[in-house]
Amino acid sequence: MLKDNRRAKGLIGLVAIGAFIALVVGCTPSHAQSTFDALGPVAKSQLDLFWITFWVGLVVFILVEGAILYIAFRYKRKPDDSADPAQTHGSTRLEIIWTVIPAILLLVVAVPTVQTVFANLNTPAPPPGEVVERIEAIGHQWWFEFRYPEHGVVTANELHIPVDTIVEFKLKSVDVIHSFWVPKLGGKVDMVPNNENSMWLQANEPGLYFGQCAEFCGVSHANMRFKVVAESREDYDAWLLAQAANAVVPIDPLVQEGMDLFGAPEAGCTQCHTIQGNRSARGRVGPDLSHVASRRHLAAGIMDNTGVAFANQSVVPDVNVSILQDNLRAWITDPESIKSGNIMSRDAAVYNGTLPELTDRQISALVAYLTTLK
Ligand code: CUA
Repeated sequence: MLKDNRRAKGLIGLVAIGAFIALVVGCTPSHAQSTFDALGPVAKSQLDLFWITFWVGLVVFILVEGAILYIAFRYKRKPDDSADPAQTHGSTRLEIIWTVIPAILLLVVAVPTVQTVFANLNTPAPPPGEVVERIEAIGHQWWFEFRYPEHGVVTANELHIPVDTIVEFKLKSVDVIHSFWVPKLGGKVDMVPNNENSMWLQANEPGLYFGQCAEFCGVSHANMRFKVVAESREDYDAWLLAQAANAVVPIDPLVQEGMDLFGAPEAGCTQCHTIQGNRSARGRVGPDLSHVASRRHLAAGIMDNTGVAFANQSVVPDVNVSILQDNLRAWITDPESIKSGNIMSRDAAVYNGTLPELTDRQISALVAYLTTLK
């Protein structure tokens, strides 16, 4: 019995040490989703606020725990203590002290908190001669849609922003509550159905940033991710131009076959997907695929199309066509095995048994077609 007790205590100690190490290691700024590596003014203001709260909390923790330990050891019952100690009740002076001190501490935390909340919420005026970029970010189960209304661009899961520029976001959702978060740039603001929220971000350095839905939104919440490419104004303008253009019309026979199949009833793709320039493809349930082959990830940030491990923030890898094709094939063959609960495998007739499954030949044609949509 005694031995069991000792073993249990040892186990609890080990778990506690393991948890502590995991917690501390999690704080490394080099992690792609670390908030300790603030690379924009919004993330910086949120990090500053964290440190204020952290230090105030640490001082309170040390003082309170110190007092508890001191009292517990200093006044613990000794073998020759016979009677209970004298019982006291009520002390006006103590009551006032322990009301006033926390009130002051709360004020110390509350003033910068309220300031930061409003500073993050209200887009600041841009420097003279510059404009604010405006983007709509729309949450779907489980992917992100990005619309650039001033440029006629619609994309999904890969957000492009110009570096050193204030970017204002209108945040919406078409189904449940999601949350928009780019740990190194700022967040998290909820994307609420029928209630538009707004926030702003700015990236100080060009590079690739990780984004993530930060509000539990169903079984594939953890698979609802996106990437942010922060780039020079020239690169950004070039990207906008390319994205605003209509999708290419194929000449290769297999690609042509894929395009025809994409719009045909036996595949049913066009009911949910848009392809600019293709009149029959105007669905808005799934991502706009006009330039899907230009994106560095598939399936909302979970299938990497570059083959380059995220090593350096400032390096934005290019799409590797053969990896992209493998990913497209895997996704079209069995989306459910990649993203559990996704709407395509639930509602599309070729996946839910209403229509015959796609053949290998049909999948190859679709992959060939989608690969051309750069
Ligand atoms: Cu969307 Cu979690």
